[in-house]
Amino acid sequence: MHVPDLIRRKRDGEELADEEIEELVQGYVRGVVPDYQMAAFLMAVYFQGMNERETAALTRAMVRSGGVVDLSSVPGVKLDKHSTGGVADTTTLVLLPLVASAGVAVAKMSGRGLGYTGGTIDKLESVPGFRTHLSAVEFVAQVRRIGLALTAQSRELTPADQQLYALRDVTATVESPALIASSVMSKKIAGGADKIVLDVKVGRGALLPDERGARDLAERMVRLGERMGREVTAFLTDMDQPLGLAIGNALEVIEAVEVLQGKAWGELRELSVAIGAEMVRMAGVEVDAAEALRLLEAKLDRGEALDMFRRWIEAQGGDGRVAEDPRRFLPKAAHVRVVTAAAGGYIQDIDPKRLGRLVQSLGAGRRRKEDVVDLSVGVVLGGKVGDRIPDGEPLAVIHARSLQDLDLAEREVRSAIILSRDPVPRRPVILDRIS
Ligand code: URA
Ligand code: CA
Repeated sequence: MHVPDLIRRKRDGEELADEEIEELVQGYVRGVVPDYQMAAFLMAVYFQGMNERETAALTRAMVRSGGVVDLSSVPGVKLDKHSTGGVADTTTLVLLPLVASAGVAVAKMSGRGLGYTGGTIDKLESVPGFRTHLSAVEFVAQVRRIGLALTAQSRELTPADQQLYALRDVTATVESPALIASSVMSKKIAGGADKIVLDVKVGRGALLPDERGARDLAERMVRLGERMGREVTAFLTDMDQPLGLAIGNALEVIEAVEVLQGKAWGELRELSVAIGAEMVRMAGVEVDAAEALRLLEAKLDRGEALDMFRRWIEAQGGDGRVAEDPRRFLPKAAHVRVVTAAAGGYIQDIDPKRLGRLVQSLGAGRRRKEDVVDLSVGVVLGGKVGDRIPDGEPLAVIHARSLQDLDLAEREVRSAIILSRDPVPRRPVILDRIS
């Protein structure tokens, strides 16, 4: 393999052979190909793209760089779900116990927060005692026992993705459909599930903000799954405003529990039920789309999804009382301020990226890999686009570590949320479904 030649050919828009891609990736993981050559290659891919065959070859090479979880001892169809990342996106915490309560086996690997987006592993670390790192044996055993397990991405799985992602993050090569598709799908293939549901975000808070790019990514991942023997459905969903109302680790767990308790409505519940219904159908439960939705609504209303949430938390060593009274048992911020709207109105816009960045700067995110996150800080919105905020009522509640942080956050919140005197239409959360 002559690496400068591979880089030059990709730079000039040529297609690479499967074996060339395989050798390059294995060479990188073994340390034979240095970061600077791989960085140049990634930038060439960023500009020239990769066709489906090349993307599949890259995905396979990334899967082969590590192990694969063997879920064959778990009976039935195993499902996994992945989101491309958003703000106030706590779907996983609602969805997993919801579909597990309907008898669908879920085995999920999750990550930490990236950039301004939150990560499920960070959120779950706010639950006292909860173990986010299970061994492969524990992971499989728990799926067999209660039908649900979630663990942090293991170092043994797709080490190529871990190295490549870190390099992309610092070389401005994250936002490429081919590179995102291979990164996501290599992890899902290595995770061992038979069928996969993807939540591809569109809008200012998404990795690929415009609908064209997001749709291209979704279609690529569906076809990539097909090539690799996995059934994949992708939803295109709105990330032009935060999904739920809470942004911040413990605050998002509270919101998820309130949805599971049947106390919170809105888009977080709607999207969780819609993705869940697709998973129920993919698992082979013989229901039509409307029946699947009704089945899951009933699981929420009867408290069965909440019971499953408690079992899951306890199975991984966490304090199950979080399911009854999350506000009491989760970490709390030292300072809380209610930001009110002097003159009310209809919410016209909520900038998701700005709020995501703000919450990171309050301490919920990392500047460096080894930073410790503050699980208690964040912002809870008073409503979503289209909602009316009466005069003097809360626009948002800020949870922070210091008074200075409250002041800074208040200014940011006031510029991120725009009110209008006239009614504003609500925006749909699900834009399309691709399979
Ligand atoms: N999420 C991933 O796992 N990989 C990417 O490249 C982007 C988002
Ligand atoms: Ca298909």
